[in-house]
Amino acid sequence: MNKKLIAHKFPDTGKDFEVRNPANGKLLAKLPDMGGTKFITQTIDNADSAFAEWKAKTAWERAEILHKWSDLILAHKQEIAKIMHSESGKLMSESIAEVEYAASFIPWSAEEAKRSYGEIIPMRNAARGIVAKEPIGVVAAITPWNFPAAMITRKTAPALAVGCTVICKPPQATPLTAIAIHNLGLQAGLPEAVFQLVLGDSGAIGEALCASKKIRKLSFTGSTEIGKKLMEQCASTMKKVTMELGGNAPFIVFDDANLEKAASGAVSSRFRNSGQTCICANRFLVQENIYDEFAKLVVRKCKNLELAPLINEKAVQKVDALVKNSKADLLCGGKSNGNFYEPTVLKNVTAKMEIYNEEIFGPVLTLVKFKTEAEAVKLANGTPYGLAGYIYTGDLQKGWRVAEQIEFGMVGINETAISAAHSPFGGYKESGIGREGAHYGIEEYLETKFISIAK
Ligand code: SIN
Repeated sequence: MNKKLIAHKFPDTGKDFEVRNPANGKLLAKLPDMGGTKFITQTIDNADSAFAEWKAKTAWERAEILHKWSDLILAHKQEIAKIMHSESGKLMSESIAEVEYAASFIPWSAEEAKRSYGEIIPMRNAARGIVAKEPIGVVAAITPWNFPAAMITRKTAPALAVGCTVICKPPQATPLTAIAIHNLGLQAGLPEAVFQLVLGDSGAIGEALCASKKIRKLSFTGSTEIGKKLMEQCASTMKKVTMELGGNAPFIVFDDANLEKAASGAVSSRFRNSGQTCICANRFLVQENIYDEFAKLVVRKCKNLELAPLINEKAVQKVDALVKNSKADLLCGGKSNGNFYEPTVLKNVTAKMEIYNEEIFGPVLTLVKFKTEAEAVKLANGTPYGLAGYIYTGDLQKGWRVAEQIEFGMVGINETAISAAHSPFGGYKESGIGREGAHYGIEEYLETKFISIAK
């Protein structure tokens, strides 16, 4: 690992946490746990004091620094990917792709922030009404381990671009990627108090960030359970929140679909990052007359798949219990080796099973049978989640009709690559609030101010 990239000067808090490689358990680092310490208060005060000056810069000045940040990230792509691979287990190929994806949010946000336009309203009783957009203030960004780089830039780049100061709290499992990304931000010219990192106990730090009156916005990616807790904690200070939470994505395959393409899409969506992706297809709803053929195709595509380990032993135990308790027919996989879990396909899964209703977050593809379009829509919507959904059909009218009826924030028709810096990412129902990416993601960090001018 490139030592310079992960060098840091965090305060000595007297307590450490360990970072280990999930593939082999090797100790990678010991880092100070700032949870429950005076350093968190100090960090918030720093961000608050730096806000006025950062806000006063033009979007062009901020963009210049942000472009340098993304250039530096891309120049260190291989090294950051190696760090990510070591601490999260993510395959090198996927780690490199993630670093590129992470970098893409920065120039996009830097340029879009220049277009944070307001409005002029012709008034009835005054000369003019002006609607102006202003940065919301200090932002807390709590990020997950499954995308250790991209979720940092997806949150912090738009916030920094519009003039907010940011405190980022990466997870304890993958802080080294965060340190590298942060170090390059500082090297690019982001002032230290404008972009800060805090490490350690998520509960204690989350609570302190949510309780602070000085923080005006929380952006969180993680489980629905934790998202609800954080929202409760944010209520006392009426913070604006963006929540990117759990999913239970349906993947609907109609009998008129190109089955070869549908099976490839199914395997790439389900097994991306070993199934540890919020938008991974989680339930494969397949029309009954092509069910067996589709099952054979996906099983064939699972052979020789190279998978990353799951993040820890607890994750392996959870996935294994879901598979074993389902009592569905095991077509392949179903075994673990350390933190690795085989690509697994289950047939004859039903809506009554726990594995159908839970976000699996592991490499298990569950096949469910349906007869009619109406039944497929009903099954797809029968979940409290609403993040992503996928439809495979040869009839685009049907694809469009079903896309409009399913209650999900993102829908792929005959495709699974649905996330990008320039498109809105977020969910309906218990999958979250707000959007990241596109101009919607910029809006999340802005306040709307109305100014009325007398005649
Ligand atoms: C996620 O689902 O956790 C993020 C995936 C993405 O941005 O594509």
